[in-house]
Amino acid sequence: MTLDTEKLIQAAARARQHAVSPYSQFKVGAALLTITGEIIGGANVESASYGLTCCAERVALFKALTEGRTGFVAVAVVARCAGGPMPCGACRQLLAEYAPEAAVWVADSEALGVVHAFTVRELLPSAYLRRT
Ligand code: THU
Repeated sequence: MTLDTEKLIQAAARARQHAVSPYSQFKVGAALLTITGEIIGGANVESASYGLTCCAERVALFKALTEGRTGFVAVAVVARCAGGPMPCGACRQLLAEYAPEAAVWVADSEALGVVHAFTVRELLPSAYLRRT
């Protein structure tokens, strides 16, 4: 595991501590790494109106984008889940739009040293993108 991978997985694990998931009890943390070396974390936030729930990946992405961050090289996602949590379809779409070159690293919170790596492109081939 590279230093970047280890650092970003650790950042996602830290972000996970602030998950707001009273309905599912499923805590997810995500962290984005920018080309300039900045790390932006996020965690899932749930609502009593379940459909309003926002995944950790999108919280991190929206935080980063609205703080003026771009140029994402990787996103790490951590949850207590065998093999690590795979981003949902909605998050894959947003990653395809705003972090198309990012590596996606996922890990089980109980085994942070075991990281599975994907590309955004393989998670969402033939993504719908805005036409210019
Ligand atoms: N969740 C995430 O935050 N990211 C994922 O990749 C999968 C699912 C959240 C949404 C919801 O709060 C909880 O996990 C259960 O689905």
